[in-house]
Amino acid sequence: MATRKEIYDLPITPVEKGAKVHFKNPPKAFFDAIGGEEGMKELMYDFYDKIYESSIAHFFPQDEEEFEKVKEKNTKFFIQICGGPKVYEDETKGMDLNEYMIRIHDNFSINEAARIEWLGTMREALADKAQHVPIELIREFWDYLEAFSKLTVNHFPDGSTYYASYTQAEEEKAGD
Ligand code: HEM
Repeated sequence: MATRKEIYDLPITPVEKGAKVHFKNPPKAFFDAIGGEEGMKELMYDFYDKIYESSIAHFFPQDEEEFEKVKEKNTKFFIQICGGPKVYEDETKGMDLNEYMIRIHDNFSINEAARIEWLGTMREALADKAQHVPIELIREFWDYLEAFSKLTVNHFPDGSTYYASYTQAEEEKAGD
């Protein structure tokens, strides 16, 4: 069980241009506790409804059908990244799931403010849809989002751009 306050207290640390980002994929226990595929869908659909009320709404398709597709794909990604069924597999064309996800975000000009809004919106969705999940599991899910989202930031305050490379797989092989 988690309280709204515990969820709203989940931390956001700043992105540093070019710094290595370490993260762990969320545990399957989170996927089970949220309620499997149905529970994940509820969380992610709520998240995207909130995105449309947020300051980053303009990043996303305004066409209803296109928006629906993003909602569906996003849900499938999170089911798979949390260790659920591999329902997003066909999208990645053999690429590592996280690497593929970083590259998708290269198509958008994402800065730190957009990342903070994205994370803040996810925190609200968790507060509304995940209070039945033990806070320890929410923290593990959050740690993934908080760290991974740094790799989606590609525009920096000095006006420069930087597209993060994905090194996790190499690090894991090296036992880092
Ligand atoms: C933990 C961090 C994040 C994860 C795991 C994530 C995940 C995803 C996923 C799964 C999709 C759908 C991909 C598909 O079409 O198959 C997506 C699309 C998208 N995300 Fe993210 N995202 C993250 C952070 C962000 C941030 C910080 C922004 C900031 C604006 C953002 C903006 C977008 C946009 C604009 C799209 C594409 C919508 C379209 O297809 O038109 N994402 N993201």
